[in-house]
Amino acid sequence: MNARLTSSPFAAMVDEQLNEFRVATAAYRGPEIFEEEMRNIFYKTWIYLCHESEIAEPGDFKSTQVGTRPVIVTRGREGAVHAFLNACAHRGATLCREEKGNTRSFVCPYHGWSFRTSGELLGIPDEARYPAGFDKSDKNLKPLPRIASYGGLIFGSFNPEVEDLEVFLGGARRHIDIWLKRAAGSCYRLATSHKYGFNGNWKFQAENVHDGYHPGFVHKSAFNTVRKFDGSFENRELRASVRQQGYTRGYPEGHGTLEAGAPLESGGIDPEVRQAYHDQLAALYGAEEAAEILTNRQFLIFPNLVIFDFNIRVVQPIAHDRTEVYSYPVMIEGAHDQINANRMLDAQTRVGTAGILSVDDIDVFAGNQNALKAEGFEWITLSRGLDKEEVRPGGERVGVYSDETPQRAFWRMWRSKMTPAC
Ligand code: FES
Ligand SMILES: [Fe+2]
Repeated sequence: MNARLTSSPFAAMVDEQLNEFRVATAAYRGPEIFEEEMRNIFYKTWIYLCHESEIAEPGDFKSTQVGTRPVIVTRGREGAVHAFLNACAHRGATLCREEKGNTRSFVCPYHGWSFRTSGELLGIPDEARYPAGFDKSDKNLKPLPRIASYGGLIFGSFNPEVEDLEVFLGGARRHIDIWLKRAAGSCYRLATSHKYGFNGNWKFQAENVHDGYHPGFVHKSAFNTVRKFDGSFENRELRASVRQQGYTRGYPEGHGTLEAGAPLESGGIDPEVRQAYHDQLAALYGAEEAAEILTNRQFLIFPNLVIFDFNIRVVQPIAHDRTEVYSYPVMIEGAHDQINANRMLDAQTRVGTAGILSVDDIDVFAGNQNALKAEGFEWITLSRGLDKEEVRPGGERVGVYSDETPQRAFWRMWRSKMTPAC
């Protein structure tokens, strides 16, 4: 380990040895750590802003956050994507209070200054009262210095020096590419999100999305209930409490996957409709690749974007002990109604606010945070599969479904980001 990593107090919170990978509980606790995470992670790297379908038309906008900074993403009248702080250049009022919409301009609710969807200052009420020579050129909305997109996923960064988006995505690009192919030659359109919040640290949710160790335990009663009624969502999670098959992957960039090695089948689709969709994929990509495309996978793009087969989830940190989660059903443009209805159903019944899985997980996260308040123990362990995972050239690590391989990748990147060079 280099000197930079050994000298930082944050580096010491992630302790990797041959037979143990542990994280200090202090890393989940307290406003100071949270502030450092905002500064060193959320304002330094690429953060997902929105999907291109959410701002498809000129004048479309969406409000979001990068870390705790409010941000507006727009499609300008000229068609380009813009992103800027959602703060009026006059005296800082929240400029846009809508979650999404379409507008010719943003008018500040406080004193009526207006701005184009490109962020440029448009008008000042009673402008004559300003001094002669008043400089308006620096009164535009403050833009994010970097915006880039990959596969319709739009990212932004407050760091002008951030690496290119494709470099940042690294090994996760392969999984995004596979996910895109599920659209069977069409493109995706995001539906309005489900939202939920919990009184716990954002990293509990980030670690959970590719955790294949927990479903057979935390979600046991949910699986049993579903099986009892209609057998839908019958999949590998029902057959074994701790999975040895399937894969987990961790990448040097901090991203990680959970892959079942089999499709996640849900009920409600006419077998003929399902077969036609599968045939379409096979015609486009060949039978072997189509099978891989249909394989259940979910992955985290460090630090807070989650991509499920049918869903995008954004983990939004609010405070060290408060997190909000936005869960967007992903529709396929032009697909059979049953395919899209089933994707919507997946959000409603499985991974959305009232989904059978989310509520179980949230309960665990809140319990975790509550236990941390006690400050009664110092370390948690993420060592499962540590000496058994395969390390591939380039740094990809591959474990089985229930290994903590992706969580370790997350924390290695967390340690690196929290330990800046100067
Ligand atoms: S703060 Fe926006 S117009 Fe005054
Ligand atoms: Fe879960």
